[in-house]
Amino acid sequence: MKNYCAEITENVKIAKDVYRMTLNCSSEGVFPGQFINIKVESLYLRRPISVCDFGDGFITVIYKVVGKGTDIMKDMKVGDKVDVLTQLGHGFDLEKECNKPLLIGGGVGTPPMYALAKELIAKGKEVTVCLGFNAADEVFLKEEFEALGCKTFVATLDGSGDHKGFVTDMIKEKNIDFDYYYTCGPAVMLKAVQTTLGFNGQISMEERMACGFGACVGCTIHTKSGAKQVCKDGPVFDSSEIEL
Ligand SMILES: Cc1cc2nc3c(=O)[nH]c(=O)nc-3n(C[C@H](O)[C@H](O)[C@H](O)COP(=O)(O)OP(=O)(O)OC[C@H]3O[C@@H](n4cnc5c(N)ncnc54)[C@H](O)[C@@H]3O)c2cc1C
Ligand code: FES
Repeated sequence: MKNYCAEITENVKIAKDVYRMTLNCSSEGVFPGQFINIKVESLYLRRPISVCDFGDGFITVIYKVVGKGTDIMKDMKVGDKVDVLTQLGHGFDLEKECNKPLLIGGGVGTPPMYALAKELIAKGKEVTVCLGFNAADEVFLKEEFEALGCKTFVATLDGSGDHKGFVTDMIKEKNIDFDYYYTCGPAVMLKAVQTTLGFNGQISMEERMACGFGACVGCTIHTKSGAKQVCKDGPVFDSSEIEL
């Protein structure tokens, strides 16, 4: 874990209630699937947000405004300083034998899929991305995945995307060809992915957290191999481990 005082270089709205924040911050030791923990002025607990993108001297996150902390975050300005913890959790295992990974993101579970897609493409994999959102005005990152060269499909409940309905149904309907999956999203979507796709994969869990680095039991979940702390043992788990 590293602690930085990072300068905000971008904090812009990209979809309904969704913002992209870029921090001028070392990305040393950062890995796709990890998260950062942001200190929000006046709040005791930090807010965990997945790493969406990172590179030389920057980390980008995408967050949805759902409560007090993210509401304060949205009003932060370019040039403001934030206290962040980086290198949290262990990320996705990129060494799994596969050629055609499928990345499935639901709502604000989509951001960690972006850093992952970049790494998998760099390893020569043929990446397909399937995203699920409620409505057209909530969709984000589609063009960015396409720009990376990923085949990208969007399912929305309002029917504005490539499919009307759930992302798991779209995967079946479009007969997507894949040999492994990585996913992050709401619990109901993760369960559908786990039960309907008939493949093993990796699931990133966005459980409620307190400390974010293994010092409390605020994020404990029960897995097939016993109790695990999502912040330290996850947030990424093998799908066969998780009982959703
Ligand atoms: C490892 C990890 C990665 C995450 N990555 C992202 C991300 O990339 N983008 C993003 O938008 N959000 C992400 N989250 C969720 C994010 O941390 C919460 O939305 C945020 O902490 C809410 O803070 P708040 O003060 O605005 O809301 P609060 O006032 O704390 O809560 C407002 C509402 O949001 C719900 N909520 C709070 N935390 C969570 C959570 N962890 N999961 C589900 N519901 C929650 C509460 O139950 C409540 O209904 C992630 C969470 C974890 C644990
Ligand atoms: S949030 Fe404290 S142990 Fe995970």
